[in-house]
Amino acid sequence: MTVPTRPTVAAVVVLAAGQGTRMRSARPKVLHDLCGRSMLGHVLAAAEPLGAEHTLVVVGSGRELVEEHLAAIAPGARPVVQEEQRGSGHAAAVALAAVPDLEGPVLVVNGDAPLLRQETLAALVEGHSAAGSVFSVLTAEVDDPTGLGRIIRDGDGAPRAIVEESDATDAQRAVREVNAGVYVANAATLRRVLAGLATDNAQGEQYLTDALAPLVEGGAPVAAVRAEDPADVLGCNDRRELAARRRTLNDRVLDELMRAGVTVVDPATTWVDVDVTVAADALLEPGVQLRGTTSVAAGAVVGPDTTLVDSTVEEGATVVRSHVLGAVIGPDATVGPFSYLRPGTRLAGRSKVGAFVETKNVSVGEDSKVPHLSYVGDATIGRGANIGAATVFVNYDGVAKHHTTVGDHVRIGSDTMLVAPVTVGDGAYTAAGSVITSDVPPGALAVARATQRDVAGWVQRRRPGTPAARAAEAAGDARAAAAADTRTTASE
Ligand code: UD1
Ligand code: CA
Repeated sequence: MTVPTRPTVAAVVVLAAGQGTRMRSARPKVLHDLCGRSMLGHVLAAAEPLGAEHTLVVVGSGRELVEEHLAAIAPGARPVVQEEQRGSGHAAAVALAAVPDLEGPVLVVNGDAPLLRQETLAALVEGHSAAGSVFSVLTAEVDDPTGLGRIIRDGDGAPRAIVEESDATDAQRAVREVNAGVYVANAATLRRVLAGLATDNAQGEQYLTDALAPLVEGGAPVAAVRAEDPADVLGCNDRRELAARRRTLNDRVLDELMRAGVTVVDPATTWVDVDVTVAADALLEPGVQLRGTTSVAAGAVVGPDTTLVDSTVEEGATVVRSHVLGAVIGPDATVGPFSYLRPGTRLAGRSKVGAFVETKNVSVGEDSKVPHLSYVGDATIGRGANIGAATVFVNYDGVAKHHTTVGDHVRIGSDTMLVAPVTVGDGAYTAAGSVITSDVPPGALAVARATQRDVAGWVQRRRPGTPAARAAEAAGDARAAAAADTRTTASE
């Protein structure tokens, strides 16, 4: 039995040396982010499943930044430097020169096509192979072809040329089938035809698109393969297109989630990065951003108005109006409204972090609660503990950070300062307003505050005539009357 093998390519060449002037950015264009991945990252991810032996990325403008990024996201890809940006054809030639013995089909793709999908690339590679073509271009029928290269076909519908808008006649400009900037070509053929490219065009560059016409004239088999979804091929040249492409990508991510059983209450205000996972029967309320490597489990409710970055929300947990970075929120735990969870926060099952609480590098045990107005940093809290309102884990002495340990079933009174390093033993209490500077033994009540002293009559003496003094006087009369009344009753 023979297993049919899908046609593939020997190399992937990504053109990413252009300056991207229209972005008006100090950052190279291909490094701009959409849904948690750079433009370049999206193109590489789409090409990855082709399993090419070589992945070459042509770099030039801002090359140090692009190379650094490449090393981080695709260490197997090889940057090839195009010293001067002399056009897309020149860029492709520079890439081929870097692997002189390369043979077979090569995919060449613009680095600014973040919506390309692997299926679309596979269809082009298959079309190329099926047609026995030496040069195939991916095309799309679009409503507005402005700025793009037009596909010129002859009377029989066979592709004849790609004409850039600035070099096109009025009749050619009316064509709505455009060049996607994605090509598959035989390496040897491409090498040969690129070597002969002229620069007699409006931009004085070597256009990769000019490779097609001479091949047609020479009678070589070529192909133009239409993309199924025209959105796939849209490039990204300025900030408005960047926003539009991001919107499209986000919609795709949300569609996939909803098809898989996630409730998205308001897709228009929900933003989910491509590497995020959300399980079926999770619910995303309006105004949610799930970023980076965040994952949300079944039955969890996130939002409204919540940002989760590189965080994990386990089954049945809820996170309301909160900002969460690098945290793990355990099963059935509740967070918010208005909580700020910073990296290293680990909330165990059924625990709670409430309003106006900030946490960092802390593990909160099962069923423990930090309900209101607290800062909890560098700490371990056992199970079943309650941290009273306005407690501060005083972790920083101005030089170093120190750890606090709070045992199981501890009750920290409101407005306690836990001055680290310090340990509060299992089952201990602290009195409200205490400043705890030494360890509290298990089961003890720690009281660390000044004893109350009442200076009787101070207000009437020192603030006479004020509303406070009058109120005190009235209270004094009432108390005297009440006291007299009690005496009368008692003597009856
Ligand atoms: C290009 C195509 C156009 C197509 C469009 C699709 C050419 C001449 N035109 O136009 O037909 O419809 O893409 O989006 O190719 N680059 C280099 N080195 C250079 C010049 C460019 O690496 O010297 C890279 C750019 O970084 C970019 C790609 O090549 O990723 C295309 O260049 P760009 O200037 O964006 O071409 P477009 O005008 O968009
Ligand atoms: Ca472009």
